[in-house]
Amino acid sequence: MTDASSTPPVPVTIHRGDYRPPEWQVPDIALDFALGIDATRVSSALSVVRHADTMVPLVLRGDGLTPLGVRVDGEGWNDWRMDGSDLIVDLGDRTAATVEVDTAIDPAANTQLMGLYASNAMLCTQCEAEGFRRIAFHPDRPDVLSRYKVRMAGDKAAFPVLLSNGNCVASGEEGSDHWALWEDPWPKPAYLFALVAGDLVVNRDSFTTLSGRKVDLGIWVRAGDADRTGHAMQALKNSMAWDERVYGREYDLDLFNIVAVSDFNMGAMENKGLNIFNTRYILADPDTATDVDYDGVEGVVAHEYFHNWSGNRVTCRDWFQLSLKEGFTVFRDQSFSAAMGSPPVKRIEDVRLLRAAQFPEDAGPLAHPIRPDSYQEISNFYTATVYNKGAEIIRMMATMVGPERFRKGTDLYFARHDGEAATCEDFVRAIEEGAGVDLKQFRLWYSQAGTPRVTARIDTDAATGERTLHLAQSVPATPGQPDKAPMLIPLRIKAFDLDGSHGAEEEALVLLDRADMAVPLGSYRSRPMLSINRGFSAPVIVDCAREAGELAWLAAHDDDPFARYEALQQLMLDTLVAAVSGDKADHRAVIDAVATTLGGRAADPAFVAEAVLLPSEAFIGDQMVVVDPDAIRRERLALQAAIGAALEAEWRAILAEGAPPATDLTPAAKGRRRLRGVALAYLAATPAADAPALAFGIFSGADGMTERQTALATLAHGDSDERVAALDIFYQRYRDNPFVLDKWFQVQAWSLRPDTVDAVRELAGHPDFTLSNPNRVRSLYGALTGNQAAFHRADGAGYRLIADLVIALDPKNPQTAAKMIPPLGRWKRFDEARAAMMKAELGRILAQPGLSRDVTEQASKSLLG
Ligand code: TRP
Ligand code: ZN
Repeated sequence: MTDASSTPPVPVTIHRGDYRPPEWQVPDIALDFALGIDATRVSSALSVVRHADTMVPLVLRGDGLTPLGVRVDGEGWNDWRMDGSDLIVDLGDRTAATVEVDTAIDPAANTQLMGLYASNAMLCTQCEAEGFRRIAFHPDRPDVLSRYKVRMAGDKAAFPVLLSNGNCVASGEEGSDHWALWEDPWPKPAYLFALVAGDLVVNRDSFTTLSGRKVDLGIWVRAGDADRTGHAMQALKNSMAWDERVYGREYDLDLFNIVAVSDFNMGAMENKGLNIFNTRYILADPDTATDVDYDGVEGVVAHEYFHNWSGNRVTCRDWFQLSLKEGFTVFRDQSFSAAMGSPPVKRIEDVRLLRAAQFPEDAGPLAHPIRPDSYQEISNFYTATVYNKGAEIIRMMATMVGPERFRKGTDLYFARHDGEAATCEDFVRAIEEGAGVDLKQFRLWYSQAGTPRVTARIDTDAATGERTLHLAQSVPATPGQPDKAPMLIPLRIKAFDLDGSHGAEEEALVLLDRADMAVPLGSYRSRPMLSINRGFSAPVIVDCAREAGELAWLAAHDDDPFARYEALQQLMLDTLVAAVSGDKADHRAVIDAVATTLGGRAADPAFVAEAVLLPSEAFIGDQMVVVDPDAIRRERLALQAAIGAALEAEWRAILAEGAPPATDLTPAAKGRRRLRGVALAYLAATPAADAPALAFGIFSGADGMTERQTALATLAHGDSDERVAALDIFYQRYRDNPFVLDKWFQVQAWSLRPDTVDAVRELAGHPDFTLSNPNRVRSLYGALTGNQAAFHRADGAGYRLIADLVIALDPKNPQTAAKMIPPLGRWKRFDEARAAMMKAELGRILAQPGLSRDVTEQASKSLLG
């Protein structure tokens, strides 16, 4: 027998085409846990049934486990061996058996936060994607579904609360120990198993479903945190009602529990009946959470709840199908959040995220289709592409068929595949049949990576005055995919008539399905104003030469709010790209358009706040062949200062109006706070001498975290005395609240100050900084990689800092370490000097001995380019 942890990692590539159905199914599982923080005994009993015709042995995957005893049908069994970290049990010609294995694990030593681990003296699990094999030997693949019975016993004082999936069917006491037996009637893959044991308090509520089932709801947190769970609970109840109303999906157990955990690799996890959350997506009160945080809680609670159908009742056949549950569920949570707040603002936020996180991924060395063809480590594929582009693919289908037919398609999907492990193809086929639509060409969105580019141009027939829209598409080459076929791109389009010569203006849904296409628009006396990809109907880049005047007109008059936002953004981008390329900057058109947009602020402050925000430095960089981070920062700040100065009276008026009470979380109140933040940032960009005092006044007088954090972040960019004072006050006040302390690290790493890299290096040595908590790591280093000019500092100090982090973090938490690599992989987009330094750091990472599979895959692919 070899010790699994000493086996060197062999980079094995798993291919989608190699899928074979499981040879053994496991209809029932009984687990027995003897709980201890640094020693937990696990006994598993798997009832296995052979599905293969041949007498293949049973292969049970393990990761770091040693079998302490193996029994088959109750008898001690010797026909087993280890193959690497896997347990092979020879069952002879049996077609069914009960296989029992005992193991022991050390949750306190589990710093990867995968499997069973300890967080603040509490025990919890994370099994997706392949964490169950760190708890017990198991096939650990999502197409093996089982009914679970889970018994756990432990010290009553250390673990007063014992939770697992499903319902608690029995419990009792034995001396200082107690035990509980949980049963989940719904067959599920091992990745949805969960267990929690600890000292927790609960916020209880209930929800009665459409058919009258009363569901007990519980949100479990540490003592003292219960009064910050109200927003999450309301979001949960709203989600349950929304899924019934919009998708006809009802909850299917008598109990729904959520547990909040401080140390967590991702946002949250949809374990059946027992969701486990990163605390940052559960706890919220006005003093500690911003409006963005509140929306994050609502969106993630909804996301995990919606997985009960899109993910749990219908799960994934294999991990290549991840977008089946994630893309669909993100689309569902986006639609929900839109319905709870402002649909246009939600759409702007979602597109901004897609452009910030997914477009760069699609344009870089790690580009992959939403249904990948191969992977080395599946944890590396929980990406913006699988999640957010995946959601856009579902959204396009919904756009093409309309809500009623889309619902027919999803109804068919859920009915046909309930209880099954399905594929992306199953989903598309159900939409095709249920909605009555041909998606043959559309399927390319599942297999082709890269963001398509669409060019659009209006031509005029001089003789007849007829106008024609010429569309062309191209899909860029991506790693492993040099040649692409034209895709089906649904574009919502409208051509505005300025002089009434055309008559009725109708929006059209143009299905661009070939490389080039001509769309007759009819006759217009003067050139129509082209509004294209309205509502961002397709996740593409549109190249459309429109002059400043046309963009300004659209920004002011388009009846699609998203298109108004886009027009102003495009105007800003054109201005900035010209300035960065060395043209003399002309800020006037942008200033005028911002002024016009601000005129609508009373009616819709949230939209206006989004619309007048300058594009991010990274997004400006994405428009350039070679990114010049310093010129981008300089020109963006110059434009910000010009807008700030030209409209100074407006910004001051917005700030003078005062803030709505922090407890007011209506979209209007959130919008007003957002606009105040934007106003403060514009004002702070001007030479106005009173700006720091004004920001400090807002910081000190704030009755909630939105205003407080915005003011602090604004001050953090400068070098006023107020900056030092505010950072100190904030730290002293919130040093014991890890969630708020994350913000303190974050605003400093976001700072536009030239010494930010040095500040981050210093903060990494701060007594409150730790590599053990993923939230803390992201708040400091994640913020730095999002700070373009800082991360790309010309001397390479930013790159070195991130590579040092990856090297230090990998032995502890490879999943989180690997997430920090992609920014180093964008070297092709930068000048030679920067590219060489980025590659050198990737090489330095790869030269480390004993590197994880996670980091090896990301760094080696990133280096290849
Ligand atoms: N399925 C989870 C979600 O999207 C994602 C997730 C949570 C996850 N924790 C994880 C994925 C750990 C991989 C590893 O809701
Ligand atoms: Zn999810």
